[in-house]
Amino acid sequence: MAFIDDIMAKAKSDKKRIVLPETMDTRTFDATEKILKEGIADIILIGKPEDIEKNGAGFNLEGALIVDPYTDPNRQKYIDKFVELRASKGVTAEMAEKQMMDDYMYYACLMCKCGDADGVVSGACHSTGNTIRPALQLLKCKPGIRSVSGFFLMEVPNCEFGEHGLFIFADCAVNPEIDAEKMAEIAYLSADSFKSFIGAEPKVAMLSYSTKGSAKSDDVTKVTDAVAIAHEKYPELLLDGELQLDAALVESVGALKSPGSPVAGYANTLVFPSLEAGNIGYKLVQRLAKANAYGPMLQGLSMPVNDLSRGCSADDIVGVVAMTAVQAQV
Ligand code: ACO
Repeated sequence: MAFIDDIMAKAKSDKKRIVLPETMDTRTFDATEKILKEGIADIILIGKPEDIEKNGAGFNLEGALIVDPYTDPNRQKYIDKFVELRASKGVTAEMAEKQMMDDYMYYACLMCKCGDADGVVSGACHSTGNTIRPALQLLKCKPGIRSVSGFFLMEVPNCEFGEHGLFIFADCAVNPEIDAEKMAEIAYLSADSFKSFIGAEPKVAMLSYSTKGSAKSDDVTKVTDAVAIAHEKYPELLLDGELQLDAALVESVGALKSPGSPVAGYANTLVFPSLEAGNIGYKLVQRLAKANAYGPMLQGLSMPVNDLSRGCSADDIVGVVAMTAVQAQV
Protein backbone atom coordinates (compact mmCIF):
# COMPACT_ATOMS: atom_id res chain seq x y z
CA MET A 1 0.00 0.00 0.00
CA ALA A 2 1.37 3.46 -0.88
CA PHE A 3 2.17 5.63 2.13
CA ILE A 4 -0.72 8.03 1.59
CA ASP A 5 -3.29 5.23 1.21
CA ASP A 6 -2.17 3.88 4.55
CA ILE A 7 -2.58 7.34 6.13
CA MET A 8 -6.07 7.75 4.59
CA ALA A 9 -7.10 4.39 6.07
CA LYS A 10 -5.78 5.44 9.50
CA ALA A 11 -7.60 8.79 9.31
CA LYS A 12 -10.89 7.04 8.44
CA SER A 13 -10.56 4.63 11.37
CA ASP A 14 -11.06 7.42 13.94
CA LYS A 15 -12.47 10.52 12.25
CA LYS A 16 -11.31 13.93 13.47
CA ARG A 17 -12.70 17.46 12.98
CA ILE A 18 -10.38 19.48 10.76
CA VAL A 19 -10.87 23.19 10.03
CA LEU A 20 -10.22 24.61 6.57
CA PRO A 21 -10.30 28.40 6.99
CA GLU A 22 -9.39 29.38 3.41
CA THR A 23 -12.89 29.68 1.99
CA MET A 24 -11.68 32.35 -0.44
CA ASP A 25 -10.18 29.56 -2.58
CA THR A 26 -12.02 26.96 -4.69
CA ARG A 27 -9.39 24.29 -3.94
CA THR A 28 -10.70 24.23 -0.36
CA PHE A 29 -14.15 23.19 -1.62
CA ASP A 30 -12.82 20.69 -4.11
CA ALA A 31 -10.82 19.06 -1.29
CA THR A 32 -13.80 19.21 1.10
CA GLU A 33 -16.00 17.31 -1.34
CA LYS A 34 -13.33 14.60 -1.76
CA ILE A 35 -12.65 14.31 1.99
CA LEU A 36 -16.33 14.00 2.86
CA LYS A 37 -17.01 11.54 0.07
CA GLU A 38 -14.16 9.29 1.25
CA GLY A 39 -14.98 9.76 4.97
CA ILE A 40 -11.43 10.87 5.79
CA ALA A 41 -12.37 13.60 8.30
CA ASP A 42 -15.20 15.84 9.40
CA ILE A 43 -14.68 19.25 7.82
CA ILE A 44 -15.36 22.67 9.31
CA LEU A 45 -15.36 25.61 6.88
CA ILE A 46 -15.12 29.17 8.20
CA GLY A 47 -16.69 31.87 6.05
CA LYS A 48 -19.63 34.07 5.28
CA PRO A 49 -22.48 32.20 3.51
CA GLU A 50 -22.21 34.42 0.43
CA ASP A 51 -18.46 33.67 0.07
CA ILE A 52 -19.04 29.96 0.53
CA GLU A 53 -21.84 30.02 -2.02
CA LYS A 54 -19.71 31.90 -4.54
CA ASN A 55 -16.36 30.09 -4.15
CA GLY A 56 -17.86 26.69 -3.41
CA ALA A 57 -20.32 26.74 -6.32
CA GLY A 58 -20.64 23.36 -8.00
CA PHE A 59 -19.14 21.32 -5.12
CA ASN A 60 -21.13 19.00 -2.90
CA LEU A 61 -20.49 20.24 0.64
CA GLU A 62 -23.19 18.16 2.33
CA GLY A 63 -21.93 17.12 5.75
CA ALA A 64 -19.46 20.01 6.17
CA LEU A 65 -20.02 22.22 9.20
CA ILE A 66 -20.08 25.81 8.00
CA VAL A 67 -19.22 28.38 10.63
CA ASP A 68 -20.18 31.97 9.81
CA PRO A 69 -17.99 34.03 12.14
CA TYR A 70 -20.48 36.90 12.01
CA THR A 71 -23.35 34.86 13.47
CA ASP A 72 -21.47 32.08 15.29
CA PRO A 73 -22.87 31.74 18.85
CA ASN A 74 -19.35 30.72 19.98
CA ARG A 75 -17.74 33.94 18.79
CA GLN A 76 -17.68 35.63 22.22
CA LYS A 77 -16.18 32.49 23.77
CA TYR A 78 -13.31 32.68 21.23
CA ILE A 79 -12.77 36.40 21.85
CA ASP A 80 -12.58 35.73 25.59
CA LYS A 81 -10.12 32.88 25.05
CA PHE A 82 -7.97 35.03 22.76
CA VAL A 83 -7.81 37.77 25.42
CA GLU A 84 -7.08 35.24 28.17
CA LEU A 85 -4.16 33.85 26.15
CA ARG A 86 -2.73 37.14 24.87
CA ALA A 87 -3.64 39.82 27.47
CA SER A 88 0.00 39.82 28.59
CA LYS A 89 0.91 40.88 25.03
CA GLY A 90 -1.54 43.79 25.21
CA VAL A 91 -4.39 42.13 23.27
CA THR A 92 -7.79 43.65 24.10
CA ALA A 93 -11.22 42.26 23.20
CA GLU A 94 -11.49 44.71 20.28
CA MET A 95 -8.07 43.69 18.94
CA ALA A 96 -8.88 40.00 19.35
CA GLU A 97 -12.16 40.32 17.48
CA LYS A 98 -10.58 42.29 14.65
CA GLN A 99 -7.74 39.80 14.24
CA MET A 100 -10.11 36.81 14.25
CA MET A 101 -12.40 38.38 11.68
CA ASP A 102 -9.57 39.64 9.45
CA ASP A 103 -7.70 36.33 9.54
CA TYR A 104 -9.74 33.13 9.96
CA MET A 105 -6.56 31.23 10.86
CA TYR A 106 -6.86 32.87 14.29
CA TYR A 107 -10.52 31.81 14.43
CA ALA A 108 -9.58 28.24 13.52
CA CYS A 109 -6.85 28.02 16.18
CA LEU A 110 -9.30 29.32 18.80
CA MET A 111 -11.81 26.66 17.79
CA CYS A 112 -9.10 24.07 18.48
CA LYS A 113 -8.08 25.69 21.73
CA CYS A 114 -11.73 25.65 22.95
CA GLY A 115 -12.20 22.00 22.02
CA ASP A 116 -14.52 22.67 19.04
CA ALA A 117 -12.07 21.27 16.45
CA ASP A 118 -9.13 18.85 16.39
CA GLY A 119 -6.78 20.43 13.84
CA VAL A 120 -6.31 23.03 11.11
CA VAL A 121 -4.97 22.94 7.55
CA SER A 122 -4.26 26.21 5.77
CA GLY A 123 -1.65 27.90 3.57
CA ALA A 124 -3.05 27.56 0.03
CA CYS A 125 -3.40 31.35 0.00
CA HIS A 126 -1.06 32.40 2.82
CA SER A 127 2.69 32.32 3.42
CA THR A 128 4.16 29.77 5.83
CA GLY A 129 4.88 32.53 8.35
CA ASN A 130 1.29 33.85 8.29
CA THR A 131 -0.11 30.33 8.50
CA ILE A 132 1.88 29.19 11.51
CA ARG A 133 2.19 32.42 13.53
CA PRO A 134 -1.41 32.21 14.92
CA ALA A 135 -0.75 28.61 15.98
CA LEU A 136 2.52 29.54 17.68
CA GLN A 137 0.82 32.40 19.50
CA LEU A 138 -2.39 30.65 20.54
CA LEU A 139 -1.78 26.91 20.66
CA LYS A 140 1.88 26.95 21.76
CA CYS A 141 4.20 23.97 22.16
CA LYS A 142 3.39 20.62 23.76
CA PRO A 143 4.47 20.48 27.41
CA GLY A 144 8.25 20.13 27.70
CA ILE A 145 8.89 21.23 24.10
CA ARG A 146 10.75 24.47 23.38
CA SER A 147 10.31 24.87 19.62
CA VAL A 148 7.91 23.87 16.92
CA SER A 149 9.67 22.57 13.80
CA GLY A 150 8.60 21.45 10.35
CA PHE A 151 9.20 18.11 8.69
CA PHE A 152 8.54 16.55 5.32
CA LEU A 153 7.66 12.94 4.92
CA MET A 154 9.60 11.98 1.80
CA GLU A 155 8.54 9.02 -0.33
CA VAL A 156 11.32 8.30 -2.81
CA PRO A 157 10.44 5.91 -5.65
CA ASN A 158 12.64 2.87 -6.32
CA CYS A 159 14.89 3.68 -3.40
CA GLU A 160 16.93 1.16 -1.43
CA PHE A 161 17.65 3.63 1.40
CA GLY A 162 15.70 4.62 4.50
CA GLU A 163 12.55 2.64 5.31
CA HIS A 164 11.96 1.30 1.77
CA GLY A 165 12.34 4.85 0.43
CA LEU A 166 10.41 6.56 3.24
CA PHE A 167 12.15 9.25 5.30
CA ILE A 168 11.49 12.15 7.61
CA PHE A 169 13.50 15.31 6.82
CA ALA A 170 13.57 18.16 9.41
CA ASP A 171 13.63 21.10 10.04
CA CYS A 172 12.72 22.17 6.51
CA ALA A 173 10.21 24.89 7.30
CA VAL A 174 10.21 26.78 10.57
CA ASN A 175 13.33 27.76 12.53
CA PRO A 176 15.66 30.23 10.81
CA GLU A 177 18.11 29.80 13.74
CA ILE A 178 18.98 26.29 14.93
CA ASP A 179 21.32 25.88 17.90
CA ALA A 180 22.51 22.58 19.42
CA GLU A 181 19.64 22.37 21.93
CA LYS A 182 17.09 22.98 19.19
CA MET A 183 18.68 20.47 16.85
CA ALA A 184 18.56 17.81 19.60
CA GLU A 185 14.88 18.56 20.17
CA ILE A 186 14.14 18.43 16.43
CA ALA A 187 15.74 14.97 16.43
CA TYR A 188 13.47 13.80 19.23
CA LEU A 189 10.31 15.20 17.63
CA SER A 190 11.25 13.84 14.20
CA ALA A 191 11.80 10.35 15.62
CA ASP A 192 8.36 10.58 17.18
CA SER A 193 6.82 11.73 13.87
CA PHE A 194 8.56 8.85 12.08
CA LYS A 195 7.06 6.35 14.53
CA SER A 196 3.54 7.73 14.28
CA PHE A 197 3.46 8.00 10.49
CA ILE A 198 5.61 5.10 9.36
CA GLY A 199 5.40 2.77 12.32
CA ALA A 200 8.99 1.51 12.04
CA GLU A 201 12.00 2.20 14.27
CA PRO A 202 13.46 5.67 13.61
CA LYS A 203 17.20 5.78 12.97
CA VAL A 204 18.22 9.40 13.34
CA ALA A 205 21.20 10.94 11.54
CA MET A 206 22.45 14.34 12.70
CA LEU A 207 23.75 15.72 9.45
CA SER A 208 26.85 17.78 8.75
CA TYR A 209 29.53 18.20 6.11
CA SER A 210 31.81 16.25 8.46
CA THR A 211 31.72 12.65 9.68
CA LYS A 212 33.12 11.92 13.14
CA GLY A 213 35.71 14.68 13.20
CA SER A 214 36.74 14.67 9.54
CA ALA A 215 36.38 18.48 9.56
CA LYS A 216 36.45 21.07 12.31
CA SER A 217 34.48 24.32 12.59
CA ASP A 218 31.86 25.95 14.78
CA ASP A 219 29.15 24.45 12.53
CA VAL A 220 30.50 20.95 13.11
CA THR A 221 30.78 21.57 16.85
CA LYS A 222 27.11 22.62 16.90
CA VAL A 223 26.14 19.21 15.51
CA THR A 224 28.42 17.23 17.87
CA ASP A 225 26.99 19.23 20.79
CA ALA A 226 23.47 18.43 19.56
CA VAL A 227 24.36 14.72 19.44
CA ALA A 228 25.70 14.85 23.02
CA ILE A 229 22.54 16.63 24.25
CA ALA A 230 20.28 14.16 22.42
CA HIS A 231 22.14 11.15 23.86
CA GLU A 232 21.76 12.58 27.34
CA LYS A 233 18.13 13.71 27.08
CA TYR A 234 16.76 10.96 24.87
CA PRO A 235 18.94 7.89 25.59
CA GLU A 236 16.32 5.57 24.07
CA LEU A 237 16.80 7.07 20.58
CA LEU A 238 18.83 5.29 17.91
CA LEU A 239 20.77 8.43 16.90
CA ASP A 240 24.24 9.22 15.64
CA GLY A 241 26.30 12.10 14.27
CA GLU A 242 27.88 14.08 13.09
CA LEU A 243 27.38 12.28 9.78
CA GLN A 244 27.67 13.32 6.16
CA LEU A 245 24.66 12.40 4.07
CA ASP A 246 26.39 9.51 2.27
CA ALA A 247 27.61 8.06 5.58
CA ALA A 248 24.07 8.32 6.91
CA LEU A 249 22.43 6.53 3.99
CA VAL A 250 24.87 4.18 2.26
CA GLU A 251 25.85 1.04 4.17
CA SER A 252 29.37 0.74 2.69
CA VAL A 253 30.16 4.44 3.25
CA GLY A 254 28.71 4.34 6.76
CA ALA A 255 30.84 1.29 7.62
CA LEU A 256 33.96 3.06 6.33
CA LYS A 257 33.41 6.48 7.87
CA SER A 258 31.60 5.58 11.07
CA PRO A 259 32.30 1.91 11.85
CA GLY A 260 30.11 0.34 14.51
CA SER A 261 27.44 3.04 14.28
CA PRO A 262 23.88 1.71 14.66
CA VAL A 263 22.62 4.47 12.33
CA ALA A 264 25.31 5.15 9.70
CA GLY A 265 24.24 3.44 6.49
CA TYR A 266 20.67 2.86 7.70
CA ALA A 267 19.33 6.31 8.58
CA ASN A 268 15.64 7.03 7.89
CA THR A 269 15.24 10.25 9.88
CA LEU A 270 17.48 13.07 8.65
CA VAL A 271 18.01 16.07 10.89
CA PHE A 272 19.58 18.99 9.06
CA PRO A 273 21.89 21.49 10.78
CA SER A 274 20.09 24.56 9.38
CA LEU A 275 16.80 25.59 7.80
CA GLU A 276 18.66 26.39 4.59
CA ALA A 277 20.09 22.88 4.35
CA GLY A 278 16.74 21.26 5.22
CA ASN A 279 14.64 23.35 2.86
CA ILE A 280 17.05 23.01 -0.06
CA GLY A 281 17.60 19.31 0.71
CA TYR A 282 13.95 18.30 0.55
CA LYS A 283 13.37 20.24 -2.67
CA LEU A 284 16.40 18.60 -4.30
CA VAL A 285 15.10 15.14 -3.49
CA GLN A 286 11.55 16.07 -4.49
CA ARG A 287 12.58 17.47 -7.88
CA LEU A 288 15.56 15.32 -8.89
CA ALA A 289 14.39 11.99 -7.50
CA LYS A 290 10.72 12.72 -8.30
CA ALA A 291 9.88 12.01 -4.66
CA ASN A 292 6.55 12.73 -3.02
CA ALA A 293 7.13 15.38 -0.36
CA TYR A 294 4.30 15.42 2.18
CA GLY A 295 4.41 18.58 4.26
CA PRO A 296 5.60 20.78 5.70
CA MET A 297 3.99 19.14 8.71
CA LEU A 298 4.46 20.85 12.06
CA GLN A 299 5.71 18.93 15.06
CA GLY A 300 5.85 20.01 18.69
CA LEU A 301 2.61 22.06 18.68
CA SER A 302 0.03 21.28 21.36
CA MET A 303 -2.55 20.57 18.62
CA PRO A 304 -2.05 19.74 14.94
CA VAL A 305 -1.90 22.65 12.51
CA ASN A 306 -0.37 22.20 9.10
CA ASP A 307 0.72 24.36 6.25
CA LEU A 308 0.09 23.95 2.52
CA SER A 309 2.20 25.08 -0.37
CA ARG A 310 0.57 27.94 -2.27
CA GLY A 311 0.93 25.85 -5.40
CA CYS A 312 -0.97 22.92 -3.85
CA SER A 313 -3.71 20.98 -5.60
CA ALA A 314 -7.00 19.89 -4.04
CA ASP A 315 -5.52 16.38 -3.75
CA ASP A 316 -2.56 17.80 -1.80
CA ILE A 317 -5.04 19.36 0.63
CA VAL A 318 -6.79 15.99 1.01
CA GLY A 319 -3.42 14.35 1.85
CA VAL A 320 -2.45 16.99 4.42
CA VAL A 321 -5.90 16.80 6.02
CA ALA A 322 -5.49 13.02 6.37
CA MET A 323 -2.04 13.46 7.94
CA THR A 324 -3.37 16.16 10.28
CA ALA A 325 -6.20 13.86 11.33
CA VAL A 326 -3.67 11.12 12.13
CA GLN A 327 -1.65 13.59 14.23
CA ALA A 328 -4.87 14.51 16.05
CA GLN A 329 -5.48 10.83 16.86
CA VAL A 330 -2.18 10.75 18.79
N1 ACO B 1 8.41 27.32 18.15
C1 ACO B 1 7.55 27.79 19.09
N2 ACO B 1 7.20 29.09 19.19
C2 ACO B 1 7.76 29.94 18.31
C3 ACO B 1 8.67 29.53 17.31
C4 ACO B 1 8.99 28.15 17.26
N3 ACO B 1 9.81 27.64 16.35
N4 ACO B 1 9.03 30.62 16.58
C5 ACO B 1 8.38 31.68 17.10
N5 ACO B 1 7.62 31.26 18.13
C6 ACO B 1 6.70 32.05 18.93
C7 ACO B 1 7.40 33.21 19.65
O1 ACO B 1 7.89 32.79 20.89
C8 ACO B 1 6.29 34.21 19.75
O2 ACO B 1 5.45 33.89 20.82
P1 ACO B 1 4.81 35.07 21.70
O3 ACO B 1 4.15 36.00 20.72
O4 ACO B 1 3.84 34.36 22.60
O5 ACO B 1 5.94 35.72 22.43
C9 ACO B 1 5.45 33.97 18.49
O6 ACO B 1 5.78 32.66 18.04
C10 ACO B 1 5.78 34.94 17.38
O7 ACO B 1 7.19 34.97 17.34
P2 ACO B 1 8.09 35.92 16.47
O8 ACO B 1 9.52 35.71 16.80
O9 ACO B 1 7.52 37.29 16.49
O10 ACO B 1 7.82 35.19 15.18
P3 ACO B 1 7.76 35.67 13.77
O11 ACO B 1 6.40 36.10 13.51
O12 ACO B 1 8.88 36.59 13.43
O13 ACO B 1 8.07 34.30 13.02
C11 ACO B 1 7.96 32.20 12.13
C12 ACO B 1 7.86 33.00 13.42
C13 ACO B 1 6.74 32.54 11.32
C14 ACO B 1 7.97 30.75 12.39
C15 ACO B 1 9.28 32.63 11.42
O14 ACO B 1 10.34 32.13 12.14
C16 ACO B 1 9.36 32.20 10.00
O15 ACO B 1 8.85 32.89 9.12
N6 ACO B 1 10.07 31.06 9.72
C17 ACO B 1 10.41 30.63 8.38
C18 ACO B 1 9.19 30.17 7.63
C19 ACO B 1 9.53 29.96 6.20
O16 ACO B 1 9.52 30.90 5.43
N7 ACO B 1 9.90 28.71 5.86
C20 ACO B 1 10.33 28.34 4.57
C21 ACO B 1 9.24 28.15 3.62
S1 ACO B 1 8.34 26.67 3.92
C22 ACO B 1 8.60 25.69 2.56
O17 ACO B 1 9.36 25.97 1.71
C23 ACO B 1 7.93 24.44 2.60
